[in-house]
Amino acid sequence: MSKPGVTEMESTTVSSPAKRSFGARLGAHFKKWWWLHLIIFIAVLLIILLPVIYVGYPHIAQSQVNDSTLNVTSMTIADPTPDSFHLLQTQVIGSHSSYHPKIYSFLASVSLLGSAQAFTSVQVPEVQSKDGAQVNVDQIVDLSNAGAFGDFAQAVMLNEEIEMNIYGRPGLREGSLPKTTVTYNKTITMKGLNKLKGFDVTEFHIMLEAQNGRNMNGTVYIPNPSVMTITMGNVTLDLSVAGQPMGYSYLDNLVLKPGNNTIPMTSNVNQSAIISLVTSSSNPYKDGMVPFSITGNSSVYNGKQLPYFTQALASNNLTVNLNVTKALAEIGIHL
Ligand SMILES: *[C@@H]1O[C@H](CO)[C@@H](O)[C@H](O)[C@H]1NC(C)=O
Ligand SMILES: *[C@@H]1O[C@H](CO)[C@@H](O)[C@H](O)[C@H]1NC(C)=O
Ligand SMILES: *[C@@H]1O[C@H](CO)[C@@H](O)[C@H](O)[C@H]1NC(C)=O
Ligand SMILES: *[C@@H]1O[C@H](CO)[C@@H](O)[C@H](O)[C@H]1NC(C)=O
Ligand SMILES: *[C@@H]1O[C@H](CO)[C@@H](O)[C@H](O)[C@H]1NC(C)=O
Ligand SMILES: *[C@@H]1O[C@H](CO)[C@@H](O)[C@H](O)[C@H]1NC(C)=O
Ligand SMILES: *[C@@H]1O[C@H](CO)[C@@H](O)[C@H](O)[C@H]1NC(C)=O
Ligand SMILES: *[C@@H]1O[C@H](CO)[C@@H](O)[C@H](O)[C@H]1NC(C)=O
Ligand SMILES: *[C@@H]1O[C@H](CO)[C@@H](O)[C@H](O)[C@H]1NC(C)=O
Ligand SMILES: *[C@@H]1O[C@H](CO)[C@@H](O)[C@H](O)[C@H]1NC(C)=O
Repeated sequence: MSKPGVTEMESTTVSSPAKRSFGARLGAHFKKWWWLHLIIFIAVLLIILLPVIYVGYPHIAQSQVNDSTLNVTSMTIADPTPDSFHLLQTQVIGSHSSYHPKIYSFLASVSLLGSAQAFTSVQVPEVQSKDGAQVNVDQIVDLSNAGAFGDFAQAVMLNEEIEMNIYGRPGLREGSLPKTTVTYNKTITMKGLNKLKGFDVTEFHIMLEAQNGRNMNGTVYIPNPSVMTITMGNVTLDLSVAGQPMGYSYLDNLVLKPGNNTIPMTSNVNQSAIISLVTSSSNPYKDGMVPFSITGNSSVYNGKQLPYFTQALASNNLTVNLNVTKALAEIGIHL
């Protein structure tokens, strides 16, 4: 019974003064050397933090940028000239990150994926990167390489999907951390015009009196599965039947909008050639349905030919079957 009391006594009498004196010594030490401890503390903090800020943080920032996605939800090409156009584009950022760094405005080169040369540079505005954030581009872009843009326009014309690359080196800042530079290299998959699949001449009539050198009129249907609105100006198309030129079709002031486009068309067709074709004894089109081949000839805006759209139009061949018997019957010619 007395033993625990003794030990208690011992412990209180022995250890208590020792502790006090140690604490006092420690206090005196800090009082004298506090600045050294502060320096050591700051040095250790910096040794840990600096690599995090200057090595880890840029790496994390870069991998966040790598993981984000970019979609183009609308794109308008307006006021085209042979070496520039007005671009309006809405891009949407996709990101699963909980960090929402600021990406500074940067100059991005835009190219068709796999192309050796960019067709233009676009100043991408500053954006707070987070899921669903919109980037709106509205500027006159110079076609630094009109040939490369012709290849892009042709790829848009011929393909169901195209891949467009955006490349730049923007500054990025997360919260109060320092600004760092990241590599922005994104490939956007966009729907193309897919060879204008579904193109049709829904109506066509022979005009009794030619107007402005055009002797037929009608309506064309052009589906546009892409998100692009394209101002193409005055479009001329070559018409032929079985390799024999038959004239031209004109789509004046053509603006191709996303979705279904129903557009007035006028044509200058060699009527005597068509009539002799369907009335000849060797007429291969007994039912009056004549297969017209349509190929792009040119795209002209404000009097200037647009070589890139001309190239895109020329790359595509369309065939439509037109009921010539019906068109002739409308003007009183019965075969
Ligand atoms: C980001 O992606 C590029 C390739 O596009 C790769 O070289 C780089 O290592 C990636 N960086 C990080 C931090 O993931
Ligand atoms: C972007 O498009 C891809 C498919 O192309 C889709 O999976 C993704 O959800 C889209 N992201 C946004 C932010 O719209
Ligand atoms: C961007 O990434 C693509 C592949 O995703 C690569 O082919 C291209 O060379 C990269 N661009 C640059 C400028 O590094
Ligand atoms: C075609 O022109 C005639 C006049 O020659 C006009 O009556 C008709 O409405 C026009 N049709 C179309 C589809 O433009
Ligand atoms: C376009 O027309 C097709 C039929 O030709 C129809 O199925 C489709 O719904 C139309 N699209 C729009 C956006 O009107
Ligand atoms: C129309 O076609 C006929 C027969 O093919 C040809 O002789 C004539 O020169 C053509 N006219 C024009 C204006 O091309
Ligand atoms: C385009 O049309 C013009 C006449 O307007 C013609 O002389 C020229 O050969 C056509 N070009 C092509 C590539 O079909
Ligand atoms: C298309 O041609 C017509 C007649 O030549 C002209 O009045 C019009 O300005 C042209 N449109 C464009 C966009 O160049
Ligand atoms: C279009 O037709 C021309 C001549 O008939 C041919 O040389 C060209 O390869 C065709 N283009 C396509 C995309 O089918
Ligand atoms: C062409 O039009 C004529 C006259 O309207 C009609 O009798 C004929 O059935 C049509 N042919 C076809 C293949 O639609």
